[in-house]
Amino acid sequence: MDDIAANQQSHACAHSATHRKATHPLDSLTADEILTVTRVVHNHPEFGTDVLFETVELREPTKAEVRAFNPGDRFKRQARAAVFRRGGIGVWRLVVSIAEEEIVSIDHLPDARPMIQLEEFMVIEDMVKSDPDFIAACKKRGVGDLSLVCVDPWSAGNFGIEGEEGRHLCHTFAWLRTREFDNLYAHPIEGLNAVVDIKTGEVIRIDDYGVTPVPMAEHNYESRFQSQVRDHLKPIDVVQPEGVSFKLTGRHITWHDWSMVIGFNVRESLSLHDIRFGDRPVLYRASLAEMVVPYGSPKNGHFRKSVFDVGEYGIGKLVNSLELGCDCLGAIQYLDVDINDMYGKIFRIPKAICIHEEDHGILWKHTDFRTEVTEVRRARRLVISSIATVGNYEYAMYWYFYLDGTIEFEMKATGILNTVAGEPSAPDKYATEVAPGVFGQIHQHVFCARLDLAIDGDENSVVECNTHAEPPGDDNPYGNAFYEEETVLKTEQAAARRIKPEHQRYWKFINSGKTNFMGKPVGYKLDPSHCVMPFMAEDSPSGKRAAFTQNHLWVTAYNPEERYPAGEYMNHSDGTDGLVGFIADDGNVEDTDIVAWHTFGLHHQPRLEDFPVQPCISSGFKLMPSGFFDRNPCLDLPAQANRASCNAGAAMEPG
Ligand code: NI
Repeated sequence: MDDIAANQQSHACAHSATHRKATHPLDSLTADEILTVTRVVHNHPEFGTDVLFETVELREPTKAEVRAFNPGDRFKRQARAAVFRRGGIGVWRLVVSIAEEEIVSIDHLPDARPMIQLEEFMVIEDMVKSDPDFIAACKKRGVGDLSLVCVDPWSAGNFGIEGEEGRHLCHTFAWLRTREFDNLYAHPIEGLNAVVDIKTGEVIRIDDYGVTPVPMAEHNYESRFQSQVRDHLKPIDVVQPEGVSFKLTGRHITWHDWSMVIGFNVRESLSLHDIRFGDRPVLYRASLAEMVVPYGSPKNGHFRKSVFDVGEYGIGKLVNSLELGCDCLGAIQYLDVDINDMYGKIFRIPKAICIHEEDHGILWKHTDFRTEVTEVRRARRLVISSIATVGNYEYAMYWYFYLDGTIEFEMKATGILNTVAGEPSAPDKYATEVAPGVFGQIHQHVFCARLDLAIDGDENSVVECNTHAEPPGDDNPYGNAFYEEETVLKTEQAAARRIKPEHQRYWKFINSGKTNFMGKPVGYKLDPSHCVMPFMAEDSPSGKRAAFTQNHLWVTAYNPEERYPAGEYMNHSDGTDGLVGFIADDGNVEDTDIVAWHTFGLHHQPRLEDFPVQPCISSGFKLMPSGFFDRNPCLDLPAQANRASCNAGAAMEPG
């Protein structure tokens, strides 16, 4: 990179100022607003200063209020706060007026449990490591130095096990380091789990399933452990000498014809609001609203592993502070986020959100072979991303916006396999042995995106598209014929659907009140390219809680209180809240305000190559305009050739 480009690029990399003011009604809460909420709650006679905060987030205004907003307008904001107390279960759901500095409503849910809090992770580890039965069980396995033992707190689920009812529990797994910085996941302490009551601070049970030797060979990935690092790769620099093509006003971004508000909350991390192409709305809100990682082994305590990282932990609080040139390449705009910690103070994550543009190969091309005229346009995309670390795993979330009106979500999973120990070379039907005595169990990562649709307005419908082969006969004499059939899914229960690869099934969201050039309803298609089939029994304890995995598409009539596919308070849930409940009244979803929920994910039979650290594996979906535009909307793009590109002939050995 030459000096001028480097200099200009460094200006483009400056990250956001620290004292943010909300400039749009859908902006996530600012630090000052969060502190106002926690102060109001602490000062309230019913709560006081010992109350703890699960979430403090924007209570989104009504759609009508948002639509009436013009830049520069003043607006009043409300927050949702979920608070809890030490010593017992139950959650208080509050609505707090920030302007009036008062609690507007209090809803006490006596059986609800808050998410497991980041602040509790190390407390739980210390609690387990000082339990005499746990220490004795470690000793039986030849582990005497507890300072090298690591205990991960997993959500406990809801299995109806005696003594667990009515508590707020976590269930732990244990690992060992051989020395400082050593990869603990290479040394699982198998068959040793603790059941911990987070509220009362007790270890209520140690589950010891018997001794399996701890595999002691080191398998490290950190650079400090690599004896050699290769230097065969020459730099690739992404240079935008004239700066970036997007513009941020507060948290409102515009790029190409796209515009939206970038939100963030403790539970989901990124949320995107009022997504428009030109002046045409496409989505009112989009987020990754839940995920579950069911493991396939019935052995020892592993049946309990069915963890909902969004609803049981809140991935917003687990988001990384990103590093320029490592996590994000090129001219990067970072956004810091401020969220609440458990005590009601500000938990700031600098550089939590990364915004940049990426070249994306060619967008379209044609050569008229008779005239020899070639036209080619390059594609690029706007990328809005965050990366969360949840225990051993990383979830990297990317929202992509393309020049041609396509929206894509990609989830990259990386980090370290959840390992278990077994007898070296012994067959394990439910796992791959990734190193002698170290096994990675078959599992899935199943995600659910909540897509509040606004295809050219709020009144939308969903259409299922199935392709059929025409039976051979008089109308199909040569047997080649096939066609697509469209069916409107009119009610919530009719719209709970799975993919059907033999029919190339996909779904289209349309606005029948708005027509395109050909007189047909404008629409967007959902390309369900990464669906996974559920393998948990539907009526099993974890299967009921993960009922959203039973369908790849769900459509519900808009209800601002229906936010999460597995339910609002789903830690220890029994599965009664969530999508199955939302569609119980089988409401109309035709020509009305609807929300689509798309279930997709990764089916993960571990490979040797996934250990000791896993290269990204990826899943996601696309929303593509389908009759939304009258023709390819990218004819007016300039046909520029990239000036920094050059002939790499120097790399070729003279023949
Ligand atoms: Ni996996």
